[in-house]
Amino acid sequence: MLGTLVLLWLGIFLFLLFITMRRPKNFPPGPTPLPLFGNLLQFNPNAPLKELDKLSQRYGSVFSIFVGGRPWVILSGQEVIREALVTRAAEFTGRPDQLMVSHILDNNGVIMSAGSKWREHRRFALTTLRNFGLGKHSMEERILEEVKHICERLERHAAFPSGMSMDPQNLFHNAASNIICSIIFGSRFNYEDDYFQTLIDRMQEFNKIVISPWAMIYDIIPPVRCLPLPFRKAFEHYEKLRAHILKVVAEHKNSWVAGKPRDMIDYYLDEMLKRAGQGLSFDDTQMVALLFDLFLAGTDTTSNTLRTLSLYLMTHEQIQERCQQEIDMVLGSREHVSYEDRHAMPYVQAVIHEAQRVSDVAPLGLFHTTTANTQIRGYSIPKGTLIVPYLSSALREKGQWKFPDEFNPQNFLNDKGEFVKPDAFMPFSAGPRVCLGEGLARMELFLILVTILRRFRLVWPEDGGVPDHSLIFGGTQSVKPYCLGVQLRL
Ligand code: HEM
Repeated sequence: MLGTLVLLWLGIFLFLLFITMRRPKNFPPGPTPLPLFGNLLQFNPNAPLKELDKLSQRYGSVFSIFVGGRPWVILSGQEVIREALVTRAAEFTGRPDQLMVSHILDNNGVIMSAGSKWREHRRFALTTLRNFGLGKHSMEERILEEVKHICERLERHAAFPSGMSMDPQNLFHNAASNIICSIIFGSRFNYEDDYFQTLIDRMQEFNKIVISPWAMIYDIIPPVRCLPLPFRKAFEHYEKLRAHILKVVAEHKNSWVAGKPRDMIDYYLDEMLKRAGQGLSFDDTQMVALLFDLFLAGTDTTSNTLRTLSLYLMTHEQIQERCQQEIDMVLGSREHVSYEDRHAMPYVQAVIHEAQRVSDVAPLGLFHTTTANTQIRGYSIPKGTLIVPYLSSALREKGQWKFPDEFNPQNFLNDKGEFVKPDAFMPFSAGPRVCLGEGLARMELFLILVTILRRFRLVWPEDGGVPDHSLIFGGTQSVKPYCLGVQLRL
């Protein structure tokens, strides 16, 4: 009896799902969906971007696919991505509120929120990050402090007999996490600290689950959401990380002096005081969500870029040497690099940008939704439609780059050797939702790379096998694990 009921219920669910799987009139075209899965089964989970490229060739720069019962509109190529996210920004800046990650974050903070809550918090976070550029314990100092620890670790490895190598994954990940910790919590952790490692592991696990097939099952089959399936782990990790942040906030409240902020929590407490009684959404819940967002968004992205960058420098020795010549010439005998030095280092700038282009860290950006009925390239897009800015397509777009398929800093240099940034360079996306940490990430990449290359030569280790530059697909992509060889420069 129960079995029959379940089958009947499932049948009705599938039928309802199927009849809703119709593209609305004048909607962007795309392949025919199957019941329940939509077009998911035609994607190779290890190389889904190839399928998107094929669909783009067939249907053009705006097309749609079904993921479960829901249509996603894919924007492919820099022109149409800019048209939607910049020119028609007012209608394309929403965020989906029905995905697993939106449920976990409860649409709070910055990443998954929308409307005035998002605008106010985004403005606050940007202003605060800008304020860190000034003052005594500036963002630049915090980054250089962390670079010191990276170099100490590399020095230990360089001291080993030649051929001794290390996997740089943890080192770069810890460093990127610590820079965020220093900015938001006011303190960094020792790399060996167990508590720190637990936090990082939790965050990585969280990241893995929210982009796993389990998250997709959660998104497309609502009735399974209450079941004890692996996606529940993401909720648990979030709760534990939230508890940690709440504890640090409580400690801050005891030592906070209004008007004398030490870190982002203090800035937020000042802001709460300033806005008291105004009925705006600045409260403990939003603060914790914002801090979590910065930790989540600012770690894998930066550390994966650093890993790809180091891999390419090891395997392109001439490019590495040319960077070192430029660094030596500009810095001379000065002790530290400063972010201002980037203006005198066009080649290093070109190499960093080229590494960002090929590392293609966020191939599908973050999903947007339309906030009103709108149009793009003559197609009608109803309010609430999920929009995927296919950033990867712009970073590899033929006709936009001198050398779209190879690692070549000339992509960012003009005939006079000056640094230039083509419009198709959009690893941080574009428009009002453009990455909030772009300034911080750029500063990190420059200061870390220059300091490392000034002290060390990165060498492909004898035990490294054949270098593999291919990317493992994910919400944040990365190259496969590899070993880094380091030698001290004379
Ligand atoms: C959003 C890329 C580093 C914080 C984004 C988006 C991309 C991106 C593609 C989506 C924008 C959109 O919705 O259209 C990157 C890359 C990074 C990086 C490639 C490093 C190489 C950082 C860092 C932080 C950060 C260090 C922390 C301060 C954020 C936040 C958002 C965001 C909070 C959401 C912005 C919003 O919804 O208004 N990032 N990011 N990111 N990023 Fe980054």
